[in-house]
Parts: sequence; C-alpha cells; structure tokens
Amino acid sequence: MAVAVLNTADGRAKTALSRGYAAEWFAARDAGVDVEIGAATPPDFPARPTHPELLSPRDVPRRKPGTPEGRAAILHAVAHIELNAVDLHWDLIARFGHVPLPIGFYDDWVKAADEESKHFNLMCDCLEANGSHYGAMPAHAGMWKAAEDTTDDIMARLAVVPMVLEARGLDVTPGMIKIFKQAKDQQAIDALEVIYAEEVHHVSYGSKWFHFLCGRENIDPKPLFHDLVQTHFHSQLKPPFNEEKRAEAGIPPDFYWPLADGTA
Ligand SMILES: [Fe+2]
Ligand SMILES: [Fe+2]
Repeated sequence: MAVAVLNTADGRAKTALSRGYAAEWFAARDAGVDVEIGAATPPDFPARPTHPELLSPRDVPRRKPGTPEGRAAILHAVAHIELNAVDLHWDLIARFGHVPLPIGFYDDWVKAADEESKHFNLMCDCLEANGSHYGAMPAHAGMWKAAEDTTDDIMARLAVVPMVLEARGLDVTPGMIKIFKQAKDQQAIDALEVIYAEEVHHVSYGSKWFHFLCGRENIDPKPLFHDLVQTHFHSQLKPPFNEEKRAEAGIPPDFYWPLADGTA
C-alpha cells in the first residue's frame, strides 16, 4: 500500500489512494484483524506530477504576502509541503519495515499520512477557490532531501522529519493564519487551523517513537538527537520557536535551542 501511494504521481490521485488505504488499515485494526506489516521496497524518489516545476529554493519567486498572488503562493507552498509529507510518512512505513516495532507505530504513521492527504486536498481546494491550482506556480526542489539523507537510519529519519521539519511547521503556521485573517479568507483560515491542530500530533509521534527506540537501546535521547540533526540536517534551526506547541508535542527546549541559529 505504501509503495503504491509513493508510485502515484498525480496529487489528488495520490491522496485519494492514501486516504483509502488508511481507511482500510483502521477498519482492519478496529475489526481485530491480525495485520501483517510485510516487506516492500519503496522507490528512491516518489512519483510526482509534471507540474509544479521544481526549482532551487533561491529561484522560486518571492511574492508579497499582502497581495492575492502572495497569499496564493503561500497556499501553493503549503500544498507542496503536504504532498511531500504524504510521501514521507508512507516512505517511513515501507523503508523501515525490517525494524521490529509495535503495531502502534504503524497506526500513528498511517494516521499521519491520512491527515497529510487531507491537508493537501484542503490547500488545493483553497487554491481552486481562488482560481488557481496545485502546479500553477513553481515549487521548491529538494524537498525529498531529508528522506534521501536518512534512508538507512530510522532514528535519523524521526529526528529530522517529524522532530525538526514538522516542528518547524508549528513555529510558522500561526503567522500564516494571521495573514489570511487580515485578508478575511475564511476558507484558508479554517484549513490552516486544521493543519495547525493536527501537525502537533505528527511531531508527538516523532518524539514518542524516537524515545521508544532510544529506550530500547538504552541510549540517552538528547545527545543522540543533537548528533543526528547535526549530521543529517544541513542547517541550523531558526528561532523564534513555538515553545508551547513544541512542549505539547513532547519536544523540550533543550532539544532544539542548542541547535538554533544565532543562539543568544
Ligand atoms: Fe500536514
Ligand atoms: Fe505533518
């Protein structure tokens, strides 16, 4: 199932498949079916649509957030992140199938993949309501880099993807919501509020399973987290941090502050 999602190029088709499989997974779990994880080889790169055109971050044109074009660019960028997140969660499930983990690990990441699929669709709906669509403007290339950099280490994957990248989403989403409040775009406000509430869980799943794996190996989580982020994530973390939401997600300040850019 994970590989089928990864190999589907079209965004709406990918998320429809993802949501269907998640429903199947939870129906089986609720029915008490003894599910098997199985083994699969995920692709090096997930299939993606021919549009958006993928550009190096410095070549993606910047638009003023106070304009309709600027707001459309924000929605487009978030849609792109969400589509990448769908693939990241299914990739985590398929790529580390050889690591013995409790079934709850899969429950969490199937749920996260399902929610990312919903988030992508919400962003597409907002774009389409504004006469645009996903693929109408260029998007960042290199979003898959975090996956490539952590293909052989599940601890590194959990440290970099949910505990750094998705935690960053918690820092920046309130600012985006403010922009759409100023524009009185209720559809975008509602969609971003859903994303903001649900992303806390994805970060918490990362922290939970990172700590679980550390505990199983009797490793001190904090120095390992610092070490893995410094090795596999190629820049410093950007303050200001959303300390309250990060705490809610199980990421304490002494995990991220020592990795911060220009730490005072
Ligand atoms: Fe999301
Ligand atoms: Fe997420």
